[in-house]
Amino acid sequence: MTNATPRPMRLDALAYGGDYNPDQWPEEVWHEDVRLMREAGVNLVSLPVFSWPQLETSPGVYEWGWLDRVIEVLWAGGIRVDLATATATPPAWLVRRHPEMLPWDADGRRLEFGSRQAYCPSSPVWREHVARMARAMAERYGEHPAVVLWHVSNEYGDHVARCWCPESAAHFRRWLEARHGDLDGLNEAWGVNVWGQRYTAWEQVEPPRRATGPINPTQLLDFERFSSDALLELFRVEVDVLREVTPELPVTTNFMSIFRELDYWRFAEVEDLVTDDAYPDPADPRAHVPAALNYGLMRSLKGGQPWLLLEQAASAVSWRDVNVPKAPGRMRIDSLQAIAHGSDGAMFFQWRQARYGQEKFHSAMLGHRGERSRSFRETAAFGRELQRLAPVKGARVRSRVALVVDWDSWWGSSAAESLPSQRLGWLAQARAWHGALHALGHAVDAVRATGPFDGYDLVVVPNLYVTDAAQADALAAFAAAGGTVVVGPFSGVVDPTETVHPGGAPGPLRELLGIEVDEPWPVPDGRAERIELDGVGYDAPVWTEWIEASPEASVVARFAAGVLDGRPAVTRRGHGDGAAWYVGAALAEDGLVEVMRRALADAGLPARDRIDRDLEAVTRADDATDFTFVLNHGDHEVVVAVPDGAEDLLGGGTVGPRLVLPPLGAAVLAAPRAAEPPFVTLSETTE
Ligand code: GAL
Repeated sequence: MTNATPRPMRLDALAYGGDYNPDQWPEEVWHEDVRLMREAGVNLVSLPVFSWPQLETSPGVYEWGWLDRVIEVLWAGGIRVDLATATATPPAWLVRRHPEMLPWDADGRRLEFGSRQAYCPSSPVWREHVARMARAMAERYGEHPAVVLWHVSNEYGDHVARCWCPESAAHFRRWLEARHGDLDGLNEAWGVNVWGQRYTAWEQVEPPRRATGPINPTQLLDFERFSSDALLELFRVEVDVLREVTPELPVTTNFMSIFRELDYWRFAEVEDLVTDDAYPDPADPRAHVPAALNYGLMRSLKGGQPWLLLEQAASAVSWRDVNVPKAPGRMRIDSLQAIAHGSDGAMFFQWRQARYGQEKFHSAMLGHRGERSRSFRETAAFGRELQRLAPVKGARVRSRVALVVDWDSWWGSSAAESLPSQRLGWLAQARAWHGALHALGHAVDAVRATGPFDGYDLVVVPNLYVTDAAQADALAAFAAAGGTVVVGPFSGVVDPTETVHPGGAPGPLRELLGIEVDEPWPVPDGRAERIELDGVGYDAPVWTEWIEASPEASVVARFAAGVLDGRPAVTRRGHGDGAAWYVGAALAEDGLVEVMRRALADAGLPARDRIDRDLEAVTRADDATDFTFVLNHGDHEVVVAVPDGAEDLLGGGTVGPRLVLPPLGAAVLAAPRAAEPPFVTLSETTE
């Protein structure tokens, strides 16, 4: 059930607002809420995410009255509703009637009620009840004009992404049977002759519980795939009901940025709108860099269609060990960053700060001090300012660079306990590669390894541990047609059953890359090897490889120390009208930036000569206009060169050719759409 024509959300402005939990407050407060929401420019709220127990107080006994009234109060105030199906957490009465729906951990311990998400994703009881609740919500509120979006469940997998209970075990077996056909297929795929694991009956097959030693890696990988699919099935249970009752209303479930446990490519296929919850750590001065990767993924999950930042913090969160508030101006620049990257709005968790419960120290738009709280002053000011950005709604980010995100490779290279090194880290590599391109001035999209690659000049593949022929063929076709591909270490290693490709890595990528990996050569902790690139040395910590380059491949950089001294480290092979690079090491940041600089040049793309990692520029465009967001994430002034005479939607008036951005300063430049997206650099002159 893919969703080829996403249903649009009926909201004629950028979305602004937050999670609203009116059931935590007396009714008089709701009226004050709406008054203040209007003052803050709020036009959309998400509710009632965790309210099932307040809506169905005992089996079949519904208390709709309060929610009816809240929706009316909001509607009267002109505020739209992102209506949750309220299935993010089960009522206690349901759990006590059906304790078998509680999830188990890998040690076989049942997880108790007392937090949220207390359900096994595979539980038939839970599935039956969420379908019932979604139907009840849809039948009661689906026609209400205030309701513009379905918010299914909440952050699938946040607390319980994997379950090892007997029901999950049975579901896993059914899933395996569908994937592998029969036990012979399973035994072959899992390579059971190693360590004597042959199965002769399905009942013998279990999810990977804690075992005596390292577990079969294909069993682990299949369990990751299955667990993501189990939650996807659960999502579909609700989506099917909602589509039946309210076929016009768009559906979303809020994602958790770049999240290991769920294959978001597959989730996004089902929904109409991608929504994301993003919590960059204000204590990390570089947090905007991985945030840009998250947002690149979010806009790419539905092929560039605008997405929505559904949750962020107005200031501090309450779930880190140390929860640092956002300095004045930080919430604004963080919000603008998401919008720059294609979000059609900026929303928060939550509207009014709780006074009790697990999240009472989590900030909100309206803090404990109410109207006098700094978070209200800042969010209200930003809500008003946001109206100036109305023209960017619907515009799409222009990017010529894409980074391959592949959940199989992420799972395969991190679930197993028997790898050349446990240190490579799929996400760390993806972030490092993205970070280098970000530093060089590019907004990076995400893409599947099979594409589509249309519109890109450069596709980078930080890690593709699990590779099949379709992926290799797609990448080769992209290069043949003139694209530049850069592939990172430990790629093309195994097929989808985790069997090493004949002849070893890079398997089906061998022809394209023109190299063979004789052996991975991981680097001991605390040490680093060196590579030399155009006479300059750079560190290669964590991972290196013994590479044999074919005569067709040229050597771009060589190792410059240790056993691999003089051997190829980075290679390039021309392929058709394009080229394929291989980077056989995990490089420290400076080296990676230099490799990416050369790859960008090879792809005919610009790169910033001088780098300031706090400067970010992203262009969204519609048919007529380029909207270039120029953002200073740092605490120092940045002077940038921009096209002369562009209109600044935020500041008003025209700017250029120099633009001075104060700490946390931003401009959104509107100019007629150019053939190439504007490329913003630091100004050469400081005058
Ligand atoms: C999200 C969740 C919200 C709230 C928020 C706090 O993970 O969806 O309900 O808990 O975190 O940061």
